[in-house]
Amino acid sequence: MVKKEIINFKEHTDGRGSLIALEYPKQIPIEIKRIYYIYNVKKDTPRGFHSHKDLNQILIAISGCVKVKISDSYDEEIITLDSNDKGLLIGPMIWREMFDFSEDAVLLVLADHEYDESDYIRDYDEFIQLGREYWKK
Ligand code: TYD
Repeated sequence: MVKKEIINFKEHTDGRGSLIALEYPKQIPIEIKRIYYIYNVKKDTPRGFHSHKDLNQILIAISGCVKVKISDSYDEEIITLDSNDKGLLIGPMIWREMFDFSEDAVLLVLADHEYDESDYIRDYDEFIQLGREYWKK
């Protein structure tokens, strides 16, 4: 098992449509410092391919569908994000690859730190080495 959390958000639907509210700390257990979204992803074009040293992130497919492969250097899992009432919380030292974006996919990401390139591990072999020390299974 790879450490992660799937958070189910409450949908408020009435005759007019639907609304989902994300509020700290009830639905969103991290303090958000940054929000970004990924969209218009070309067919068969994966993204990600990195881990973070400290960052916590919540990934939400607010439109469409995307698969996320996560690894802790020992185990890996594929999570399908296909509903905007579901968030995937990934913490530090988890490798992630996002793939199979549907044409209409919009992946919203909530992060608890500002953008910092020095927090990234982009080399897979380096991640495996550091991840095995970090997770020690
Ligand atoms: P990149 O890390 O390659 O995206 P992905 O994780 O989807 O593979 O980021 C793409 C570009 O956007 C890169 O030039 C860095 C920039 N960027 C920011 O400026 N701020 C951010 O918060 C993020 C996530 C990326």
